[in-house]
Amino acid sequence: MELKGLLLAGGTGSRLRPLTYTGAKQLIPVANRPILFYAVEAMVDAGVTDIGVIVGETGPAVRAALGDGSRFGCRFTYLPQSAPLGLAHAVKTAEPFLGDAPFLMMLGDNLLRGGLKTLVERFARGQFSATILLTAVPDPRPFGVAVVENGRVVRLLEKPDPPPSNLALVGAYCFAPVIHAAIRTLRPSWRGELEITDAIQTLIDWNLPVDAAEVEGWWKDTGRPEDVLEANRLVLEDLVPYCDPTAEVSPDSTLTGRVHLGPRVRVVRSHLRGPVIVGEGAELVDAYVGPYTAIGPRVVVRTAEVEHSVILQDSHLVDLALRVDQSLIGQGVVVAGGPRRPRALRLVLGDHSRIDL
Ligand code: DAU
Repeated sequence: MELKGLLLAGGTGSRLRPLTYTGAKQLIPVANRPILFYAVEAMVDAGVTDIGVIVGETGPAVRAALGDGSRFGCRFTYLPQSAPLGLAHAVKTAEPFLGDAPFLMMLGDNLLRGGLKTLVERFARGQFSATILLTAVPDPRPFGVAVVENGRVVRLLEKPDPPPSNLALVGAYCFAPVIHAAIRTLRPSWRGELEITDAIQTLIDWNLPVDAAEVEGWWKDTGRPEDVLEANRLVLEDLVPYCDPTAEVSPDSTLTGRVHLGPRVRVVRSHLRGPVIVGEGAELVDAYVGPYTAIGPRVVVRTAEVEHSVILQDSHLVDLALRVDQSLIGQGVVVAGGPRRPRALRLVLGDHSRIDL
C-alpha cells in the first residue's frame, strides 16, 4: 500500500517561549539536529516519501531547514495553513494534496525512538480506517487519551481531566481517506480547535475499525522546555563517539565516555564527560561539560561548567562561579560572570524568560 505523508510543522509554540519567538518549535535542536529532522527520517524509513508539510507563521524557517526533500530521500510539498486551528484543520488544509490516498500523519515536535515502520505495516495489513499509537504515561492530562476495552479503542478524549485511562495518544497516525468525511462533521472543541481526536472518535461512532498499537521504545512530545531536555538526554543515550579530523583537543584536556566533536571544535584544558555533542566551531576553554549536554555550533564555554543542558548556537557561557545545570539556552545568549563570587545579578532577559537560582 502506497501511503502519502503529512508532517505538521505549523502551530505557535507558545509553551516554548521565548525560544520560539524567533523560530519554529519544530526546529529547536535535540542533540544538535532540529527535532523535525527525526520525524522526516522516521517517515522516509517507513517508506513514505511523498510528504506534505503543514506550515504556519514560521514557514520560511521550516522551508529553509528542510529544503525540497532531496537530502532526506523524499519530496516535500509545502502546505500553508491559514491559522493553527487544530490538527484536523491541518488535515483539511492538506486534503487537495492527499486526495484519496491513505496517509501517515506525524507531528513535527514528536520523537519516536522505535520509528514508524510497525505502525505503517499494521495499517497496511488490515482494513482499518485508522491505526493510532498509544502509550501509558504517568500523567495523561496534556494529551489525547484513549479508553481501550477488549483490545479495541472505544473512546477518545482530548486533554481530559480527570483522564479516563493512562493511555496517551502519540503524535503519529495512519488514516484511510474516510477521515476527510469525519473531519467535515466536526465542530471546534472547548479549546477552539478542530481536534483529530474527535475525528477518530467519529470513525468509531460510525463503527469503522480503528486499530491501536502500543509504542515500542520511547516517545517524547517536546512541547515544554523540560521535554526538550529529556528528548536531548534520550537521543544522546545512543550517541556514537566521533572526533572530526579538524577538531583540536589540547593534550591537557580529558574526554571520557561518548563524546562527539564536530568540525573545527577547540577543546583547551577542559574536561568533557559524555554523552556530549559539540557542534561546529565551538570553543571549550577551561571548561567542564558534563553528561547529556548538547553544545551548539560556535558556542563558547570558557571558565565555566555545564551539564544536562542544551545550548543553542552562538551563545557564550563565560567566567561562571556556578554550574549551569538542566538549562535550555537560546541562540546568541551571553551568560557572563566576574572573577568574584556574585553578590548581585545583572540580567537582560527577553519576555517570558525563566531563571531558577
Ligand atoms: O503530542 C501528542 C499530542 O499531540 C496528542 O496526544 C494529542 O491528542 C494531540 O491533539 C496533540 O496535542 P498537542 O496539544 O500537543 O498539539 P500541538 O498543538 O502541540 O500540535 C502538535 C503539532 O502540530 C505541533 O508540531 C504543531 C503542529 N500544528 C498544530 C496545530 C494545532 C499544526 O501544524 N497546525 C495546527 O493547527
